[in-house]
Amino acid sequence: MSKTITGFSKLTKDEKINWLAKNFFKDVKEGISTLKQYENDNEKLQQLHDEFIENTISNFYVPYAVAPNFIINGKPYVLPMAIEESSVVAAASLVAKFWSTRGGFKTRVISTIKVGQVHFVYEGDFEELEKYFQKNKDQLLKATDSITANMRKRGGGIVDIELRDKTSKLENYYQLHVTFETADSMGANFINSCLEAIAKEFKNNAFAELKTDIHIVMSILSNYVPECIVHAEVSCKVTDFFDTDPEIYAQKFVQAIQIANVEPFRAVTHNKGIMNGIDAVVLATGNDFRAVAAGAHAYAAKSGSYKSLTNAKIENGVFHFWIEIPLSLGTVGGLTKLHPLAKLSLEILQDPSAEELMQIIAVAGLSQNFAALKALTTTGIQQGHMKMHLMNILNQLEANLHEKENIVKKMDGKTVTHKAVADALHQLRIKK
Ligand code: MEV
Repeated sequence: MSKTITGFSKLTKDEKINWLAKNFFKDVKEGISTLKQYENDNEKLQQLHDEFIENTISNFYVPYAVAPNFIINGKPYVLPMAIEESSVVAAASLVAKFWSTRGGFKTRVISTIKVGQVHFVYEGDFEELEKYFQKNKDQLLKATDSITANMRKRGGGIVDIELRDKTSKLENYYQLHVTFETADSMGANFINSCLEAIAKEFKNNAFAELKTDIHIVMSILSNYVPECIVHAEVSCKVTDFFDTDPEIYAQKFVQAIQIANVEPFRAVTHNKGIMNGIDAVVLATGNDFRAVAAGAHAYAAKSGSYKSLTNAKIENGVFHFWIEIPLSLGTVGGLTKLHPLAKLSLEILQDPSAEELMQIIAVAGLSQNFAALKALTTTGIQQGHMKMHLMNILNQLEANLHEKENIVKKMDGKTVTHKAVADALHQLRIKK
């Protein structure tokens, strides 16, 4: 038996599964049956998923849920969310309801510029390079004409190309820093295609003119998009913040953010909670959650130290809470219309433009942070979290429907722990 293999991707799905089963599954029959359980009977749909990536052997389900009652700029929305963490959707729904009676969320897009770079090495004189660049700049743009034609019709395209001298950071290192507008698409393929065309054109006649070669290292978009920013906020009178001691809790809420701003250990968890909401809607709409997460965390560190992505203040008796975050998203292209559930998510969101989607998703992030900080600064996080986690514990303990109903009632108002649930279930079972 060999645990390595050549030509794996050429095998059929069943051959792949059999090889895997023989070499790695503890119980071959059970392992294969688990994989088969998650296959879709609808052959066309399964084939679509098989072809998203290489070596597909089954599907990996994540729950798909909705959080209703979000009022954003006066318009009601239901947010589709794909996420496995028990408390996220419940929190989103509660927060949506809370703010719906306090004026809802106000949002605006600040900027929509995306970035791509051609990284290259050049050992000659910078002034000569600069002259060569300026002389050829129009030609570089022209080299992308066939790629940008459609995008230009949709209001996007290349905004600018800059030559940047990075030699103070790395010997002989320069870049073409290219900015883009990508309309309603996230634009990754568009940007990368443009960059490769630019790089090819830039290098083409370099030696003839500069007598020194330009060595292209790579051409790639950046997932850091500090000029693709959206703002979302809520506000209410401090006295409307809570029923009991609103001044004290509003103040504690602000302090929680101040702590995240000076303490990276806290800030990372704080921002992780924000990403719970953001990633869930990003994934549900077929967007790239890794790109969004990477860009958001880099933005959180833009000052040189890692800080909160949200802010809060109390001014003249009014509590203000807001987020400013980079979000590079699409509502066309990629999986957005190809994955049937992503397509449906966009339908639930009333077919937003990419800019609208940025605003909706910023709200999802702000809401999660509100739920987390509200819980953390009052009851603590575990009460709500464990309440939602109760079903997972019951499933782990293989409780049946009757047992689940019984234990959920029993645990109402009590602290949920694994032991408390196991004990309650044990008591119930011996009583029978
Ligand atoms: C858990 O997924 C997220 C929280 O830890 C976020 C936070 O602490 O702010 C609750």
